[in-house]
Amino acid sequence: MTRQKQRIDELRRSNTLPGEELLALLAEATPESDEYLFAQARTVREAVYGKAVYMRGLIEFTNYCKNDCFYCGIRRSAKSTQRYRLTEEQILDCCDTGHALGFRTFVLQGGEDGFYTDERIVSIVSGIKERYPDCAVTLSIGERERESYEAFYKAGADRYLLRHETADEEHYRQLHPSELSLTHRKQCLADLKDIGFQVGCGFMVGSPGQKPEHLVKDLQFISELQPHMVGIGPFVPHHDTPFAKETQGGLELTLRLLAIIRLMHPHVLLPATTALGTIDPRGREKGILAGANVVMPNLSPRDVRKKYMLYDNKICTGDEAAECVRCLEKRIASTGYELVCDRGDYR
Ligand code: 5AD
Ligand code: FES
Repeated sequence: MTRQKQRIDELRRSNTLPGEELLALLAEATPESDEYLFAQARTVREAVYGKAVYMRGLIEFTNYCKNDCFYCGIRRSAKSTQRYRLTEEQILDCCDTGHALGFRTFVLQGGEDGFYTDERIVSIVSGIKERYPDCAVTLSIGERERESYEAFYKAGADRYLLRHETADEEHYRQLHPSELSLTHRKQCLADLKDIGFQVGCGFMVGSPGQKPEHLVKDLQFISELQPHMVGIGPFVPHHDTPFAKETQGGLELTLRLLAIIRLMHPHVLLPATTALGTIDPRGREKGILAGANVVMPNLSPRDVRKKYMLYDNKICTGDEAAECVRCLEKRIASTGYELVCDRGDYR
């Protein structure tokens, strides 16, 4: 414990550790050292964001995807997935519902769907910004050309989420077909940041083939990129993918990584993800208590919820947005933190 405590103190003091020390921090964790780690992460997040937990309304507007990532339930080869697209009007309806519930950030997430040309995305983004100038719009629609990202930014999009998935080349190839590359993914993130977006990267915890060394690379990549947001959650198998029989990511490891990311990046916006809530009934609460400060309830229309299944057993697919907000409000209050209605910009 003393060595672990020293590492945690050093990480909090300098926001960094040598690779081998990060590896040891992960490998030698005990329930006792985790408790200390989480307490430090809470202190650091409270110094920057107080007790506030920000909410983002997630609008899953298309589950068509041209990609075939081995882990993902909406990959193009997942034949059992019923595909849908929301119209611009349906998306705006989601925003209306969300705005009335207090949401001031809308996250448009979808598969890489050619139907949504740059022009269509621009029209959706400017439509939302026109109706709700007080709200932030986040895009999470995968890899596109720099010119497209520039057009989205000009249309008023504020933020962009693009998880890097793994910072190790070889591991990246274990998770993706050969037409996808880590180099291009990283290029997209660099472009997005350069254009002026608040950017989010991130990865799955416990994805097939992941080794502790890969997690260290993920942490190092995050330190290089210096994103505004980091999305991490456990890998959860989906029955209609090549990884159907793989084991899911661990709760403790995910919490430990959330806390480490908080110590390395005191200002980062860090969601307690739906995947975390899926592997443990109090997963999101535990995430908040390990340093997370964002939740992303679903604003998608109820009839499409069950079709946006990136992994099996996803929670909240049968609930109205209003129910999720009420439920989350209580859950977060139970941790001593507070769900707030605010754009929740990076500080
Ligand atoms: N388990 C957990 N997370 C997943 N994602 C995709 N498939 C899975 C899965 N099976 C994550 C990816 C992606 C984000 C939108 O969802 O990290 O970037
Ligand atoms: Fe959706 Fe609890 S957050 S039902």
